[in-house]
Amino acid sequence: MTTNIPGFVQIIKVNDFLPGDPPIDITDIVHRTDSGATPRILARLETDKPDGEQPPSPPKFFSIARRCTHAGCNILKGSPNWATADRPIVFSMLGEGATVYPVIQCPCHGSRFDLTTGKRLLGPAPPGANLAQFETRIETVGEDAYVFVALAATA
Ligand code: FES
Repeated sequence: MTTNIPGFVQIIKVNDFLPGDPPIDITDIVHRTDSGATPRILARLETDKPDGEQPPSPPKFFSIARRCTHAGCNILKGSPNWATADRPIVFSMLGEGATVYPVIQCPCHGSRFDLTTGKRLLGPAPPGANLAQFETRIETVGEDAYVFVALAATA
């Protein structure tokens, strides 16, 4: 079942993309609506509370551009030398002011980007060469909740 939200593309059922799943490439889905749209990925990043007493945190989805701002590599492809070559390289990194960033690392030369915002954290991508970020929304369609991603980048 689909619905139309102007400026957004319906991507995937929330329950089909679970916490802990690696980021996915949503370029083909977005291109069905706009063949010229920026290639992009979708990540789910909330963590469930450990004590079981608290309600689980709400789903949080993030979408950023797929093409590295250094030399254009696909940030979603693991390094050929990486043990899990088909999975993206994702980890947490401590940044300025003790901020912990969820990081995706480009497999080609190691540039690092904040997975939630696309902000460039480490080169060789030059300072300020951030990945485009796309707004996400969760909307109910029929009986199910779906993730929608904006066609245009966040300004
Ligand atoms: S292409 Fe991504 S770090 Fe060089």
